[in-house]
Amino acid sequence: MGILEDKSNARLFYKYLSKVYDRINSFNWNEEMRAEALSWLEFGDDPRVLDVGCGTGFGTEGLLEHADDVHGLDQSIHQMEKAFEKFGRHDRVNFYRGDAERLPFRDDAFDVVWSSGSIEYWPNPVEGLRELRRVAKPGGQVLVVGPDYPHNPVLQRVADAIMLFYDADEADRMFAEAGYEEFEHHIQQATPQSPRAITTVARVPGGDEADDADGDEASDADGADAAETTADD
Ligand SMILES: C[S@@+](CC[C@H](N)C(=O)[O-])C[C@H]1O[C@@H](n2cnc3c(N)ncnc32)[C@H](O)[C@@H]1O
Repeated sequence: MGILEDKSNARLFYKYLSKVYDRINSFNWNEEMRAEALSWLEFGDDPRVLDVGCGTGFGTEGLLEHADDVHGLDQSIHQMEKAFEKFGRHDRVNFYRGDAERLPFRDDAFDVVWSSGSIEYWPNPVEGLRELRRVAKPGGQVLVVGPDYPHNPVLQRVADAIMLFYDADEADRMFAEAGYEEFEHHIQQATPQSPRAITTVARVPGGDEADDADGDEASDADGADAAETTADD
């Protein structure tokens, strides 16, 4: 397991990276890639959307082009503080400080669940994927962007030491184990020199039984730390 597949290490890492994240992020993950990923989603009318590991709000910004009811969750208050500067704390987006592997939302609460560039830090990615499925409505969609496993053996060793990188076979295994039956993977890349991303779009099983239950206001859910919680690290 890589050094950043540890929640407190990842929090510490983002305490510092948050200062420059928006300036360096586009080498790996840019607006064109985000727009392409968004084009694979069906938002329908008045969708309720969750961004898990929202960070400084790069994915959130794209989701706001398709939905008015947008919720963002991250474990790093330092990252979310950058998002607050863009969207306000309680205005266009509802923010929560929390853990992807233990989402503070009730079952079937969202039409679309998005997570870009976060799964690689989760110590139990299958548990996180299960949580994304749990909070998404049956028949809804879950989209996850993660780092594709490098082909070069030297880079593989470096990658393995840092965090989770995975190929399509491993993505198949993780999504199947997390209870998804229908999913497809896309490889995305900002420039030919950039690392590749693997983006999975999954359908939440049970669409035939889908009902229109929206759930309670997510911010009242058990286990949510309010976004304004003081950072302890
Ligand atoms: C590379 S940034 C991605 C930010 C944003 N989604 C984007 O598209 O630019 C990864 C984010 O995942 C968050 N993260 C890592 N582990 C997490 C966890 N277990 N629960 C919630 N957020 C987590 C980090 O704090 C960080 O903000």
